Amino acid sequence: MTDILPAFEQGRHLLSVSQFTRENLKRLFDVADAVDPIAKRQAVCTALDGAMLGSLFFEPSTRTRLSFESAFQRLGGEVTTTTGFTFSSMAKGESIADTSRVVSGYSDVLVVRHPDEGSVAQFADASVVPVINAGDGAGEHPSQALLDVYTLEKELSLRDKVVDGSHLAIIGDLKFGRTVHSLMKLMSLYHHLTFTVFSPPGLELPSSIEQYVTQRGHHVHVVDNVVEAVHGVDVIYATRVQRERMTEELDQAGTRGDLLNWSILAEADNLDAILMHPLPRDSRPDAFDLSNDVDDLPGLAIFHQTDNGINVRMAIFLTTLGVSIEAVHLTTKQRSWKATLRP
Ligand code: NCD
Repeated sequence: MTDILPAFEQGRHLLSVSQFTRENLKRLFDVADAVDPIAKRQAVCTALDGAMLGSLFFEPSTRTRLSFESAFQRLGGEVTTTTGFTFSSMAKGESIADTSRVVSGYSDVLVVRHPDEGSVAQFADASVVPVINAGDGAGEHPSQALLDVYTLEKELSLRDKVVDGSHLAIIGDLKFGRTVHSLMKLMSLYHHLTFTVFSPPGLELPSSIEQYVTQRGHHVHVVDNVVEAVHGVDVIYATRVQRERMTEELDQAGTRGDLLNWSILAEADNLDAILMHPLPRDSRPDAFDLSNDVDDLPGLAIFHQTDNGINVRMAIFLTTLGVSIEAVHLTTKQRSWKATLRP
């Protein structure tokens, strides 16, 4: 995947965050705002009536698959899905190209997750409909970065701040964590950012990502201590150790205990920071992830991220399928049910 991919718009694949400019990012976020009542199921929409999403997940997923599928269904479309290699013809040796051509013939848009970096671009090459990258190995995860930045704008604005000029700590597995690769690249569209990065030995940020960011005028400080990393920052973005992508040796190296917890934040004098994580959070003992003991802190934004994922993924589908906001309004009505418990 390179920087020469066409800008993300109607009829285009979404393979990398490098397809965004500040302008088309804003347009996407405006659509994400406009569909909020539908995302929150206060209103019902049939703009994608008759459209079919092909959802192909060859790696584990909960929120990405369910939120892409829910987003499509909330716009009135239908979903056909396959998960894992076992239940697809890839188990019989079928190539990516053949699978993609076949399934794209049944669908209007494909969402694909696959364990190999670059594989979703191969799906795109053979597909007759737009393909959205839902994660290609340690490569990219553009829809996650989009919902992360959408959330970040909202969380910062609640504190009368903006993304431009902000200071972020990016901590955890920065080598295999594709969400941070896409996030840092996408955030490079903003101005004057400072990233302080901390990772266990062997899981450092790839130099290609650091270069991408610094060449666009941002600062990257690498530190070897998590307290130092999170001190004084506006936002902390933590990631899980991607054990499924690493060898046993790396798995043993310094990745035990908590990556971040209440005491570390207290020691760094930053209990108010905005706390983000792409999830899933590995809550097993000693998993070296974000501890649950931060869950009552005021800056916890991890479930705002998951909720906002619906809005952003709806906006991605409306853009790639060329549906205007006017068409959405014309096909939206109030819901007729009440989903609240009586006191
Ligand atoms: C992430 C992923 O799959 O890259 N999860 C997600 O989509 N929200 C992060 C992870 O698995 O750690």
